[in-house]
Amino acid sequence: MKGCFYGLKGKHLSLVTIVLLCTTILIWGWKKTPILTNLVPPQTRLHLGPEITDDFVDNTVPLEQEIDVGKGVATFVQKDTVKEEVRLGAPPDSEQNSDKSEEISSDIASNQVEKNGILTSVSKEREKHKQVQEAEIDGKAVDVRQKEKADENNADVQKQNGEIGTSLGSTYANTSVDKLTTHTQTPAPVCNYAKGKWVVDHKKPLYSGHGCKQWLSSMWSCRKTQRTDFAYEKVSWQPKDCQMEEFEGSKFLKRMQHKTLAFVGDSLGRQQFQSLMCMITGGKERHDVIDVGPEYGIVQARGDLRPGGWAYRFPSTNTTILYYWSSTLCDLEPIDPSNPATDYAMHLDRPPAFLRQYIHKLNVLVLNTGHHWNRGKLKANRWVMHLGGVPNTDRKIAVIWKAKNVTVHSIINWVNSQLPKYPGLKAFYRTISPRHFVGGEWNTGGSCDNTTPMSIGKEVLQDVSSDTDAAGAAKGTGVKLLDITALSQVRDEGHMSRFSITAKPGVQDCLHWCLPGVPDTWNEILFAQI
Ligand SMILES: *[C@@H]1O[C@H](CO)[C@@H](O)[C@H](O)[C@H]1NC(C)=O
Ligand SMILES: *[C@@H]1O[C@H](CO)[C@@H](O)[C@H](O)[C@H]1NC(C)=O
Ligand SMILES: *[C@@H]1O[C@H](CO)[C@@H](O)[C@H](O)[C@H]1NC(C)=O
Repeated sequence: MKGCFYGLKGKHLSLVTIVLLCTTILIWGWKKTPILTNLVPPQTRLHLGPEITDDFVDNTVPLEQEIDVGKGVATFVQKDTVKEEVRLGAPPDSEQNSDKSEEISSDIASNQVEKNGILTSVSKEREKHKQVQEAEIDGKAVDVRQKEKADENNADVQKQNGEIGTSLGSTYANTSVDKLTTHTQTPAPVCNYAKGKWVVDHKKPLYSGHGCKQWLSSMWSCRKTQRTDFAYEKVSWQPKDCQMEEFEGSKFLKRMQHKTLAFVGDSLGRQQFQSLMCMITGGKERHDVIDVGPEYGIVQARGDLRPGGWAYRFPSTNTTILYYWSSTLCDLEPIDPSNPATDYAMHLDRPPAFLRQYIHKLNVLVLNTGHHWNRGKLKANRWVMHLGGVPNTDRKIAVIWKAKNVTVHSIINWVNSQLPKYPGLKAFYRTISPRHFVGGEWNTGGSCDNTTPMSIGKEVLQDVSSDTDAAGAAKGTGVKLLDITALSQVRDEGHMSRFSITAKPGVQDCLHWCLPGVPDTWNEILFAQI
């Protein structure tokens, strides 16, 4: 029995040796003989070496590019919606021009009529334009679908290849499949934070309206007024397709170590600045924060009502947050500096001097404008529109909302042109903050008495910004849109309304927001992108 067993084993052993020898010879022969290799179908060859794989990957690139073109076209069409100009007009400005209300009011009427006339014809024009574009798109869309189909086929081939790769069990197979997947996937689209919904959130607000005395103007702190409803403080924005990082002051400061964030714009920009200061500090007093205004040319001249801005530094992380007042984002220049009553050249196409001088020191820039674009304010401030360095004579541009469009395009183009020089700079244009006057304007009995959050809607699903000027200007540039218009549009209960401290009796502020409140959300969305 025993001997028989051993004999069998010996036979087996020699058999195994022969098989091994044969295999070795076969493999050696395979590699050396080109004829044998050529007999194998090309798809299998794919997984014998990475260099062939790369060839295959390269083939997929043009397809991606073509599909991208299609996407670009789609975006272009979407942006073509008419909406935003409707909300232009004279705002209440609780500080800047509150004493000039009489002067402003007489101008509003004519401004309104002029605007409405133009708006109607523009709407028609755009409608026509849109139809033509849509027809074009249909053609392109077919193209794109064909490309997608081709791409799908490609993916199938890859899947097959992947399976073959696995069965071969080679290390290369894994690598090549990974590579293929990476290259064929169209890049993940950047999340659109403007799409989403408001939800009740009892973790809000991030600071108390009773606190934050260091940074929060009492005129915007509704907790300090007679207002008794505060449901507007307890809501959060939930983007539809992106996870929004929870705001934390310490995280913000860490991310902004040795950096400077600047808000440049009107009083709504100032609200966002105050909101951010309160969010970072949680509304707690901070004795370590230092005023660094002079480093940015921000000083209060004798006789000025208030400084042109504020700049504060958190020494622990060397982080600077500043706000600079520029209500129209135009450069303003006294025409006759020796005359105290001089007119000012309002250079529609020239960035504010502050930006030209200090942009090199900024790491994050948030621009905004909008509500100061009305004839009343221009007249009250003695601003004379200039274009190309000379008084504007083009009557079409003189129309307020067109002039604003010129400036929005001009400032965004200019910032974009600076980006290559300052690769560390992230630039945002914050879209217009909506107003909610009902039954009149700010000075003709308009009001906003709602107290229930989200009662006029809570969801925003549109793919394009409601601020068409801003979206048009930012498109194709490195300046990102901080698109808060539509999401703020459904928050009519969040304004100062009749409780504003500075508004005269009967005058409501349905432009500025209670803080804590809606501008906190703008900062959360900003935080998610820096
Ligand atoms: C290859 O992929 C298989 C299946 O995904 C995995 O189990 C294996 O660990 C991978 N091998 C290498 C070398 O990455
Ligand atoms: C603070 O940051 C700035 C850059 O924003 C840098 O130039 C400066 O040296 C930093 N200061 C300290 C004390 O690290
Ligand atoms: C706004 O300005 C841009 C650039 O000058 C121009 O292309 C666009 O047509 C303007 N939009 C309107 C609505 O006039």
